Amino acid sequence: MSVSAGLEEITRRIEAATALDFAGNRLRALGRLALKHDSTRDLLSGRPIGHPLHPALVMVPAGAFLSATALDLTGGTTMRPASRRLIGLGLLTAVPTALAGWADWLDTEDAESRTGVVHAAMNVTALYAYYRSWRARHRGKRGLGSALLGATALGAGGWLGGHLSFGEGVGVDTTAFQAGPTDWREIAADTDITDDLRQVDVDGLQLLLTRVDGTIVAIADRCTHRGGPLSEGSREGDCVACPWHGSSFSLRSGAVLRGPASRPQPAYEVRVEAGRVQVRRPEPRSLRRNPVGA
Ligand code: FES
Repeated sequence: MSVSAGLEEITRRIEAATALDFAGNRLRALGRLALKHDSTRDLLSGRPIGHPLHPALVMVPAGAFLSATALDLTGGTTMRPASRRLIGLGLLTAVPTALAGWADWLDTEDAESRTGVVHAAMNVTALYAYYRSWRARHRGKRGLGSALLGATALGAGGWLGGHLSFGEGVGVDTTAFQAGPTDWREIAADTDITDDLRQVDVDGLQLLLTRVDGTIVAIADRCTHRGGPLSEGSREGDCVACPWHGSSFSLRSGAVLRGPASRPQPAYEVRVEAGRVQVRRPEPRSLRRNPVGA
């Protein structure tokens, strides 16, 4: 069996391991209690920076820990104080990083949830091992064994984190591969669109159409967070709240006004010609040339 096939088999087994659901359900209940405030979830999800926060933060503790281990292995005794300080930095910055990851994981289910449980277990193991190494250094010891264990666990956790993002799509904008008509396309009669939230199918792509102050607006119906149907959500003035996890989007621009979503909804240009509603969306991104749902 090749290395990649072996790794794929490991992820497949983790994804199917329903025994992990017991731990996952308890972690989720605890997380919903600890991160129950919308403002906390909003911040940890990365909405203010327009992308998930966890992958951006993770480079700090991971970089600090691995740099410390590299100094341990190659730097000699003069580098030991620097190595200890780097481990201290990693321990401090691991806390907000873990909280951001926990917030992202709360809205996952099934295979993604199980992968997240093992990812977290590996990272907690790494954290504990580096903590032991840091304590040992304060007692005048080298602490290299614990650091090497930490680096190994960190590598396994990072690999599973990569699988969560690139294999399972957690944190990915769910509309990234959705296209839409690049030329004006007639999709409804002007009189069909009211202030209600209306789902309209355009070549297999679902759009949400409604009126804001009498003007017809159109955004993607599929929520960028985890794919919830916004047309089944609730209207909040000029915004729509997702029925799945409550993210709020501007109906005019698609901007995220409240997380856990961090990416805006694609907004479509709309015009009315001879009583018919037309939409289009210029598509500069190459992956949309063979779009999902077309
Ligand atoms: S799917 Fe999570 S907020 Fe819409």
